[in-house]
Amino acid sequence: MQTQTMYQKNLFEGKTALVTGGRSGIGYGIAKQYLALGATVIIASRKEEPLAAAAKELGCDHKACDIRKEEDIQALADYIKETHGRLDILINNAGGQFPAPAELISFKGWAAVINNNLNGTFYMSQQMAQRFFIPQKSGVILNIIANIYRGFPGMAHTGAARAGVDNLTKTLAQEWAEYGIRVNAIAPGIIESSGLDTYPDMIKQFFNDARDANLMKRFGAVEDVANAVMFYTCPLSAYISGTTLYVDGAEHLAGDGMGLRKIMRSFM
Ligand SMILES: NC(=O)c1ccc[n+]([C@@H]2O[C@H](COP(=O)([O-])OP(=O)(O)OC[C@H]3O[C@@H](n4cnc5c(N)ncnc54)[C@H](OP(=O)(O)O)[C@@H]3O)[C@@H](O)[C@H]2O)c1
Repeated sequence: MQTQTMYQKNLFEGKTALVTGGRSGIGYGIAKQYLALGATVIIASRKEEPLAAAAKELGCDHKACDIRKEEDIQALADYIKETHGRLDILINNAGGQFPAPAELISFKGWAAVINNNLNGTFYMSQQMAQRFFIPQKSGVILNIIANIYRGFPGMAHTGAARAGVDNLTKTLAQEWAEYGIRVNAIAPGIIESSGLDTYPDMIKQFFNDARDANLMKRFGAVEDVANAVMFYTCPLSAYISGTTLYVDGAEHLAGDGMGLRKIMRSFM
C-alpha cells in the first residue's frame, strides 16, 4: 500500500505525539507514520515487554500505562513532561472487546469493555488536557472508535462504548475549543491488523464474509487509518473539530450489520 505521498517529510517536526496501544496493529502503523513525518513519538500500552520491543523496532520512546488507571496515567504525563517537555497530539487508540450476543454478555464483561474503551479514553483525554493542552493553549485529540453507525450487533458493549466516545468527541470539541484543542474521531471498518488475530476462528470466518461483501472487496489496511490520522492531526485540518470520519470502504452504509451476531448464533 502506497503511503505518505501527500505529506511533507517535516509535517510534524517539533511535535510530540502519544499513541496509546502503539505497540501493535493500527497504533503501531500510526506511530510509524508520525516518525516518518518528523514527530517525536511515545507509545503506551500495558505490557512492558512487547511495548519496549515495538519501541525499539520503531525507534521511538515508550512508557507502560493502563489507560484505566489514574496513577499510571499521571506517571505517564510526568514522564512526558520530564522527558519531552510538552505533548501536542494524543491518539486514543488502545482498546479491546470480545464478540458475544447481547443476552450473554456478563455484567463483568460489559463493565470491562466500557471501562477500557469509554472510561479509558475519557481519563486519558482529561489528564493530558489538564497537564499539557490546556496550559499550552493547543492540542489535538484523535479517538479511534469503530463502525457504530447502525449499532454494533454481536458486540453491544463496544458499540455502546464507542458511541459514548463519538459523543464525547463532540462535547470536548466544543468545551475545549477555547483552549485551542481540536477533538475528532476516526471509525475504522474491519482493518487487517494484529487485532484481528485476537478473535476465535468462527469470527475469522465472519471477517472473510464481510471482506467479500465489502463494496471495495477488501479489508482496510492499517495505512488507510494512519493516513487519515495524519490529516486529522496536522495543521491542514485546523478548522475541523467534533467530527467522526469513517474509514471503512462505505461499510457503515452498505454492510450486513447483523453478520457477526448471526455467525455466533449459528454456533450456539
Ligand atoms: N482492527 C480492526 O478491524 C478494528 C476496527 C475498528 C476499531 N478497532 C479498534 O482500533 C484499536 C486498535 O486496534 P488493533 O486492530 O490495532 O488492535 P490490537 O492490535 O489488539 O491493539 C490494541 C492495543 O491496545 C492496547 N491496550 C488494550 N487495552 C489497554 C489498556 N487498558 N491500556 C493501555 N493499552 C491497552 C494493547 O496493548 P496491551 O495489551 O499491551 O495493553 C494493544 O497494543 C482498538 O481500540 C480496536 O478495538 C480495530
